[in-house]
Formats: sequence, structure tokens, C-alpha cells
Amino acid sequence: MDRFVIKGKNKLKGEVTISGAKNAAVAIIPAAILSDDVCRIENIPNISDVSLIARILNEMNVSVKMVNKTTLEINSRNMIEKPATYDLIRHMRASYYLLGALLGKFSRAVVSLPGGCDFGVRPIDQHLKGFEGLGASYKLEGGMIHVEAECLKGSNIYLDVVSVGATINIMLAAVKAIGVTIIENAAKEPHVVDLANFLNSMGADIRGAGTDVIKIYGVERLKGTTYSIIPDQIEAGTYMAAAVATGGDVLIKNIIPKHLEAIKAKLEEIGAEIEEFDEAVRVRRCGHLKRSNIKTMPHPGFPTDMQPQISILLSLAEGTSIINESVWDNRFRYIDELKRMGAKISVDGKVAVIEGINEMVGASVRATDLRAGAALIIAGLVAKGNTYIEDIDHIERGYENILEKLTALGADIKKEHVQKDAPPLLVQAL
Ligand code: EPU
Repeated sequence: MDRFVIKGKNKLKGEVTISGAKNAAVAIIPAAILSDDVCRIENIPNISDVSLIARILNEMNVSVKMVNKTTLEINSRNMIEKPATYDLIRHMRASYYLLGALLGKFSRAVVSLPGGCDFGVRPIDQHLKGFEGLGASYKLEGGMIHVEAECLKGSNIYLDVVSVGATINIMLAAVKAIGVTIIENAAKEPHVVDLANFLNSMGADIRGAGTDVIKIYGVERLKGTTYSIIPDQIEAGTYMAAAVATGGDVLIKNIIPKHLEAIKAKLEEIGAEIEEFDEAVRVRRCGHLKRSNIKTMPHPGFPTDMQPQISILLSLAEGTSIINESVWDNRFRYIDELKRMGAKISVDGKVAVIEGINEMVGASVRATDLRAGAALIIAGLVAKGNTYIEDIDHIERGYENILEKLTALGADIKKEHVQKDAPPLLVQAL
């Protein structure tokens, strides 16, 4: 088992370059199979979620290869129809984009339900509602979702909840459908726009992405393309938060400032000084951290994927802050880990009340998910003593070279291998 060991209290200083956006990559890579030609996708992040989706496509005889460090070439000319089974799918929630992409390409798809998927917790009812709107029917059998249409036809689809996944999946299925599809109450996240831009570069006719009404005029054929995906807004936000938390001074490069507006506004309120350039931001701490209230919202609101990271700043701010998590039902699982580091946080349903403390103290903790892991890293960077973070595979799913990037900024962070039967972490940490 690998774990991160962080010795806290170093201020982050220097420059960091942000990688391509994970949540754009995991949508755009499957979207490439909608073309019979070769697609080159640039600015691909080197993260395990990308390798996984490549392996899933490989199994369907799609050639997916890196032609340089950040460019992926996808050739689906010889693609075969094959169910996407649980073995690989279980590792990755976003594998459900195969449903939309396969449906759009072959008018049918058989994909395992993503791991841990419980329709009561992370439902995909809106994805399925969208597919039905396009004329497909579906059934669940033996843990697999079967979706099939005789002929996909455009229609008006109103999403009952704003869902990034459903918006993307419907775009994938509708792009080659007959007629016009209108998605109302669509998600407006930057990666939704990026997918639409990618598909348009292949010859699709999608209008309105980035607003809550997206119109998709079906086209017969999509050609190959070369496309560069957007920088990762959440990776950028994570380094911004880390710079502020440690009282550092970091230039964060390869970003789109517009995508960071909500994050920037909150960080400034909490005590950051942020200077904006065309494709970079310089982030510094300006005095003591101040309390704040935050409500996570779909874009352009404050992103839920930054909620755990910002909680570290609020834990170190003067006074009491409140976080209202309005996107996910259960995104406070990491709080118990933070409490082990001295945080004073109480959670009631979707609300966390954070009482500021002077200092966090290193402890042995577990990354309960990707962004929780990022938050624990920030906590470790500011804490007194050593922090040991287990289950770091969650973190490596979504942050390219996080160890190298943080080390270059002056963090004392190492990855170490420990025997599975090693004594409990708590004992080692003492
Ligand atoms: N929802 C439904 N029915 C559906 C779909 C969603 O009720 O059919 C609900 C969800 O339960 C949730 C809300 O709608 O309460 C929003 O879910 P959404 O579908 O927007 O989330 P997602 O597409 O599954 C993506 C990101 C998440 C990010 C959310 C919200 C990807 C691969 N994942 O998930 O990213 O938290 O949007 O912005 O794009 C992460 O990167 O760490 C991450 C979890």
C-alpha cells in the first residue's frame, strides 16, 4: 500500500502549471468514438481515470495511444461492439459516458452499472430519461444497463435536476440523432462547453452550451479532429487554496480565469490576494484568514468539487463558518478525518459548521475520495508535524503529478510504500 507522508508548515512558493481537465477528458475520450476517423486530443492529463477509460476502449478494439506526453490519438475505425463489463467500470463513475457514446454510435449500448452505484444515492435517472426522450428503451439486467433504440430522434428534454453527467450523456447520444434535441435546465460547467466544442470541431451542430438551453441539430457523420481540452479548473482551485492555506505565494499557470471566478471570489473574501493575468493567477495570503459562509451550487456557483479544500481554510479562519453542500447528499465523509487533525466541525445533513482553530496537527488519515484527498493534503501542508494519508489512489485518479508539483513549490511530501500487515497507522504516527 502506498501513502503520502507530509511534513507540514512549509509555505508554498513558485510556479505550477495546471494540467488538462479530468472531467473534460473523461467525457471527450469516449466522445471520440462517435467519429470513424482519427481524433487527436491534446492537453490530456496523465491520471489514472484517463488510463482506465483508454483500457475500456482498448477492449472494444479502439486504438488509444499517447503520441506525446499530453496528446492522445484515438482511432475507432475497427471498433467492435462489446459490453463494457464491471471489471474496469467499477473503478470509475464517469464510465457511464460510454452509454451515451455507444448509443450515439451503434444505437445500442450494454454497460455495467458503475461501481458502488446505487440509484438511491448517485442516480442516473436523468440520463435514462434523456435516452428515452430520444426514442431509446432501457432495462437493467445482471448489473448491466442495456439501452437500445431503433432510431434515435431529437426531442425536447427537460432535466428535473441540473446534472453534468446527464447533460453530457444526452449530447453524446443526440449528436447524430435525426432532428433537433433541446436540453432544458442543462448543466453549464466548463467541461460541458468543452465537450460541445470538441463535438462541433468534428462537424456536430451544438448551440447554447454554457447556457441552460442546449440545442443539438443532429448530423449524419462526424469527422476526425485535433482538439485541445481546457485546463482543470478544480486542480487550479486546489493549488490556489493550498497557496492561501500555507501563507504562500504561487503563480498558477495554464488556467482560464473565467472558470475560476467563484473560487477566486471566495478565496478573496477569506483573505487571499489574487492577481489575474491572461492565462495565470498569482495567489498570496493577505493577513489572517476570515470566516465565510459557502453554498455549493452548479456552475457558475461555487463548485462542490472545491468544498473539501476550502474547508481547510475555514478551519483556520477566525470565527465560525458554515458550508451548505447543496449538490451532493453525502459529501462530508472527510470531516471525520479532519477532526483527527484537530478540526472543530459539526455536520448536520448537508450543513457543516466549522469553528476556526489556531493550528491543525498531523495525524494518520484516509482519503475517502478524490477531493477529500486533496483537502487532506492541504491540511497536511499546514499542520504541525507529520500527516500520513492512506488510500491515495483516489487522489491519483484526478491530480497529475501532485507529488512533483507540490515538491517543486517547496512542500515536504513523499510517497512511501508500507506493508499491508504493517502496524496500524495511528501507532506509526506517534
Ligand atoms: N442527479 C440525479 N439524477 C441524475 C443525475 C444526477 O438526481 O440522473 C443528482 C445527483 O445525485 C447530484 C446532482 O444531481 O445530487 C448533480 O449530479 P451530476 O450529475 O451533476 O454529477 P456527475 O455528472 O455525476 C460531475 C463530476 C463530479 C461533480 C459533479 C457536480 C464528472 C466525471 N464528475 O458528476 O466531479 O462533483 O459533476 O459538479 O464530471 C470530482 O471531480 O471530484 C467529482 C465528483
